Amino acid sequence: MKAAMFQTPFMAPTRSPKEVFEWAVSQAIVCDQLGFGTYLIGEHALQSWESIPSPDLVIAAAARETEQITLGPMAHILPYHNPTALALQMSWLSHILEGRYLAGVAMGSFPKDAYMHGIRDMSRNREMTIESLEIMEKIWAGEEFWHEGEFWSAGLPENDPHHPNRDVRPFNGNMIVGMTGNSPSSPSITFAGANGFHALSTYSGDEFIRSHWEVYSQAAAANGHAVDKSMHYIVRDVFVADTDAEAKRLAKEGGTGKAWMEYLLPVYKMFGLNRGLVTKDNPIDPEDMDLDYLAEHVWICGSPETVTEKLSEFSHNVGGFGHIMPFSFDYSDDPSAWNYSLQLLAQEVLPKVQQPEFATQN
Ligand SMILES: Cc1cc2nc3c(=O)[nH]c(=O)nc-3n(C[C@H](O)[C@H](O)[C@H](O)COP(=O)(O)O)c2cc1C
Repeated sequence: MKAAMFQTPFMAPTRSPKEVFEWAVSQAIVCDQLGFGTYLIGEHALQSWESIPSPDLVIAAAARETEQITLGPMAHILPYHNPTALALQMSWLSHILEGRYLAGVAMGSFPKDAYMHGIRDMSRNREMTIESLEIMEKIWAGEEFWHEGEFWSAGLPENDPHHPNRDVRPFNGNMIVGMTGNSPSSPSITFAGANGFHALSTYSGDEFIRSHWEVYSQAAAANGHAVDKSMHYIVRDVFVADTDAEAKRLAKEGGTGKAWMEYLLPVYKMFGLNRGLVTKDNPIDPEDMDLDYLAEHVWICGSPETVTEKLSEFSHNVGGFGHIMPFSFDYSDDPSAWNYSLQLLAQEVLPKVQQPEFATQN
């Protein structure tokens, strides 16, 4: 199991754009130095707690300051972009990073962000996403085409040897795409499987994660793609400190607890995801979910030994996965406890986590 981070960024709305940008870039550097495999950045137009509108700017800045980590948007919301402009930019970034790039894409979830892009009815976002990807993949293939579509027209003109086209294909000719999913038996995760993309799931209970793998693996197998658990990323919070009590205190009293109470729980409720966070063995009314419940049953929180045990158990319950991807939270006033947690996760916990046997099938 590898470590990844989801820089959403979950910083308090009082933070300035410069503070958010600096924190996002500095966390990419920290994760790179600690040996994290992947660092992904959200894209939101109007969410005051998720205040990065252009993940590509963070990626470009971090590209110069990092060496081994894979960077990417998570996700570019395809209905809100011109596919040609985005395909060119993503391909260029994949070269700037010499392949350390994961092309995260999604269909969008927030009606206000859609409205701002001229979409008052989001029911066609999925179709727009599929058409946008079709165009982008043709551009990344680098061969002549013309596409006259439902939402966009685009093309790559014939190459003229006297005035050759710039090569617009991604680094090594191959774009690695990831798609997000956050509903049960997710249509997006199914689409990811059918197209050989990586799959990125938010945690909303073990059953929920199992449903994602089920639809992903069925769609992948049906379309002749690898059924490979290392391609599955799971967003679930992890906080590690020297003792269980210290980890819980630092998570509850710090940026993790603040963001969950003021923003994340209301958003989970809005999308009906909070019910999935209630565990069978510890039933409560989801409306009563508080910091103690979150720290004990939702976040994976504790000493390195406790977190190793809980992560191993979680992995067994869902059949194994490739990447554990905690959200990033605002510890920017004093990052020492947060960065120490990341260090313990990457260097003490993950090497000892026991995963179930899972084979890669092609
Ligand atoms: C890991 C992850 C990251 C996401 N990042 C964003 C984002 O940056 N911006 C955004 O508007 N929506 C984001 N979403 C939500 C997606 O836009 C989309 O609504 C969702 O993946 C659709 O999933 P479904 O097909 O399972 O319903 C994200 C979802 C997940 C699971």
